[in-house]
Amino acid sequence: MIEFEGVGHSYDERTVLDGVDLRLSEQRVAFVGANGSGKSTLARMINGLVRPSRGRVLVDGLDVAREGRAVRRRVGFVFTHPDSQIVMPTAGEDVAFSLRKQGLSKAERQQRAVEMLARHGLEGYAEHPAHQLSGGQKQLLALCSMLVLEPDVLVCDEPTTLLDLRNKRHFGEVLAGLEQQVVLVTHDLDLLDGFDRVIVLDQGRVVADDVPDRAVGFYRELIG
Ligand SMILES: Nc1ncnc2c1ncn2[C@@H]1O[C@H](COP(=O)(O)OP(=O)(O)OP(=O)(O)O)[C@@H](O)[C@H]1O
Ligand SMILES: [Mg+2]
Repeated sequence: MIEFEGVGHSYDERTVLDGVDLRLSEQRVAFVGANGSGKSTLARMINGLVRPSRGRVLVDGLDVAREGRAVRRRVGFVFTHPDSQIVMPTAGEDVAFSLRKQGLSKAERQQRAVEMLARHGLEGYAEHPAHQLSGGQKQLLALCSMLVLEPDVLVCDEPTTLLDLRNKRHFGEVLAGLEQQVVLVTHDLDLLDGFDRVIVLDQGRVVADDVPDRAVGFYRELIG
């Protein structure tokens, strides 16, 4: 359960989120809205990357501002720009690095990493320099490095911007098949099929909160 209680945010003087009250208990929740409407700011609050200026955010009852470490163990975050998430020289090492605290042997970590990569479109890439992957491959790698940790909640901020049609479809299938809660921010409205709830943000406020069809209809009218 993710709760936003009276959440607002300002960068310097400018208010970019205001009066956000949400209880997200559904398995698949998405946020859509125009550029600059506050989606990334809101998503980043779920694991404490941004601290709300007003109100509070809770994950399973834990206040993100106070118990950030415990929250980050539960919440995985996949960023728009995968470069910010890739920390090791090769793709395999990057996924294995995620597992460093799990008490597995090096060989087990490597094997899990290779399996994970193969499952998500990167078969044979374990030894490949991570920074020499294509943009879309980096997005898949970032997903692998996060999923291998089996977080309770996966927050994805525009995770498919660089993916080709096949990998985008694959990404959608991965999201659909996950047991954990998924919070997706996207401009790609095709990804919303099968979501339980879609929330439309406009100028930092929730302006629609509905099943995908109706929320997307509202968003299309809003954009005009
Ligand atoms: N670190 C920052 N410092 C100052 N202003 C910021 C910062 N990050 C975002 N903003 C501003 O906050 C507002 C909301 O930004 P945010 O990134 O949350 O929007 P978004 O809905 O994710 O947009 P997009 O669809 O373009 O990704 C924008 O006006 C943006 O310029
Ligand atoms: Mg954004």
